[in-house]
Amino acid sequence: MTVAVYPGGFDPVTNGHLDIVSRAAALFDDVIVAVTINVSKEPLFSAEERVAMIRESFEGVPQLTVETLDGLLAQYAQDKQATAIVRGLRAPSDFEYELKMAQMNRHLNERLETVFLAAEADGSYVSSSLVREVARLGGDVSALVPPHVHARLLDRFSS
Ligand code: COA
Repeated sequence: MTVAVYPGGFDPVTNGHLDIVSRAAALFDDVIVAVTINVSKEPLFSAEERVAMIRESFEGVPQLTVETLDGLLAQYAQDKQATAIVRGLRAPSDFEYELKMAQMNRHLNERLETVFLAAEADGSYVSSSLVREVARLGGDVSALVPPHVHARLLDRFSS
């Protein structure tokens, strides 16, 4: 049985993240999406809201679990008996940072491999913070996030 952890802030989850989750679910028996509690000093959505938005995107996918992560990823992966961390690469600039994290995680847990999936090229410019900013300023992000996330963004910025 292979278990992988896909960690991230997901503030909010985007279509790019969902693509990585779907593809990871095809590679591993179980995938745990681990939502970090402290994405920034003031996340737009609480950890519970971020978890709920990801769960809503994957209702009925049995091998997928969505949880919060508050602590060291390498330890969390060990506790969950995961052997892989999944990360998406959008552009070469992602790689430098990701390589260091992968090496640090292997230093902490030598049984842990990081598996990089190439993100879809047409979403390589998308990030959660850009989605937040554009939505806050009234720009259209409906093609970049699932409909229920778009609705929450509209709701959050309507007041
Ligand atoms: N589609 C859309 N956006 C993507 C993406 C994709 N496929 N892949 C990455 N991104 C974006 C995210 O939206 C996010 O954008 P933002 O910074 O504008 O909000 C950005 O890339 C960073 O992604 P994220 O996955 O949230 O990474 P992070 O750098 O915030 O966190 C963790 C990385 C969670 C893996 C790391 O912080 C961690 O392991 N934390 C636990 C504590 C720990 O163990 N630390 C030591 C690590 S060695």
